[in-house]
Amino acid sequence: MKKMLVVSIALLFSMAVNAAPAKSEKQAKQSVELRQSIFKLVKSNVGVLGAMNKGRVPLNPEILQKNGERLEQLSLMIEDYFATDTSGFDVDTGALNKIWKEQADFNSKAADLTKAAVALQAAAKSGDEGKYKSAIGGVFKTCKGCHDSYKAD
Ligand code: HEC
Repeated sequence: MKKMLVVSIALLFSMAVNAAPAKSEKQAKQSVELRQSIFKLVKSNVGVLGAMNKGRVPLNPEILQKNGERLEQLSLMIEDYFATDTSGFDVDTGALNKIWKEQADFNSKAADLTKAAVALQAAAKSGDEGKYKSAIGGVFKTCKGCHDSYKAD
């Protein structure tokens, strides 16, 4: 009895994170557009961080803080905007279909970006320049961490 309860609770949770298939090609295309928009904004907010890391622009804690907040918010949208499974439609996307088979792992990689964005804000607040670059590096690591598994080249 107890075991059954545990199983049904586990099922309930896994259902909550499971994606729903897109209902039409139109909906699938809209989903692709929205999730790509998130990553366009992500890219727009890491560009200056990369430039700081390479010494092309001065390290600036206010920008690290502001962009860290934005990246945190954007990262929190990833799970929701990938909740529509578009794998059944012929859409122009860099997202690999296995995202919807390994959704928990995919979401954990999105959470890695959240953590790195929070760490970036903490580094900015510390005012310790020595911490800035490794926090920036931590953000970039999470891009590759997810793209290597879930994005087409
Ligand atoms: C949890 C996984 C994940 C993380 C973390 C992630 N990405 Fe992506 N990214 C993707 C997937 C999947 C796509 C393909 C989306 C599509 O085409 O439908 C993508 C697409 C993109 C695109 C192309 C957007 C377009 O115009 O089509 C850019 C740029 C991008 N990511 C940059 C980044 C950067 C920079 C980071 C790190 C700061 C990052 N991503 C972190 C999964 C991730």
